[in-house]
Amino acid sequence: MSRVEIVNRTRESFLTRKKVQKIVDFVLKEEGKDFPGCLSIAAVDEEEIRSLKKRFFYQDVCTDVISFFYGFSDEDDIWGEIIICPAVVKQEAHVRGESEERALSIVLIHGLLHLLGYEDEDAEKARAMEERQEALYRLLEEEEEREKLIKRAIKVREYAYAPYSSFPVGAALLGYDGDIFTGCNVENASLGLTICAERVAIFKAISQGVREFKRIAIIADPSSYCFPCGACRQVLYEFAPQLEVIAAKSDRDYEIVSLHSLLPRAFFLRNDDRKE
Ligand code: THU
Repeated sequence: MSRVEIVNRTRESFLTRKKVQKIVDFVLKEEGKDFPGCLSIAAVDEEEIRSLKKRFFYQDVCTDVISFFYGFSDEDDIWGEIIICPAVVKQEAHVRGESEERALSIVLIHGLLHLLGYEDEDAEKARAMEERQEALYRLLEEEEEREKLIKRAIKVREYAYAPYSSFPVGAALLGYDGDIFTGCNVENASLGLTICAERVAIFKAISQGVREFKRIAIIADPSSYCFPCGACRQVLYEFAPQLEVIAAKSDRDYEIVSLHSLLPRAFFLRNDDRKE
């Protein structure tokens, strides 16, 4: 994991330190690189980036990002530097009608890819690089979405009513429109009346008119991954055979499986009911 040093020499806002570190860690992981040492990231104004572009690339233009790869000698050394001009990136974002956060993240990914050997001098290479940075950004968004879902499952686990099993469970179900439905297990003195966290979550969603789901996160005892019981698999399958199931120990440690793999050859009443 690379240490990241960030300076903002502008009055413009930039990505948070946490977000920058997350992007750096994510891109290095996805690209299969583990660079020790330090990566320096600077946010600069238009004048500064123009003068750097002129000095090192002989072009008198204002640009959005420049990166320099220095290589490795000592673990404490700076191995690379990324210089970003937030003012330029934000203008470009406004023109394209996209969020500043997204544009700044993609520019940072672009700078990182240059450090990892990607080039964009000709149209073909530029297209490949753009595709990769967009794909990485989408994967990053998915990872953040999963972590957010797990955090909601952890939170709702606090409300579990589990005096008989002492096994509190939390679940968070993501609908296709972005809504999150949470549930915890609710036990009963008549033990068979107990209901699992997953079914509480999906019944809440259905009763609020939502029937399409993307993924569910489940967390119980943090020492092991908790996958849905057989009954819950069948209930989830009824509405979302393509569901992604995340069994979490924490928001950093989780396994992802498909509901299909958990319930192959699921029961359905009539052939017409088959949704897969
Ligand atoms: N439980 C869930 O809430 N979800 C699961 O996926 C597995 C089991 C609950 C039911 C019961 O309250 C406790 O965990 C022990 O079985």
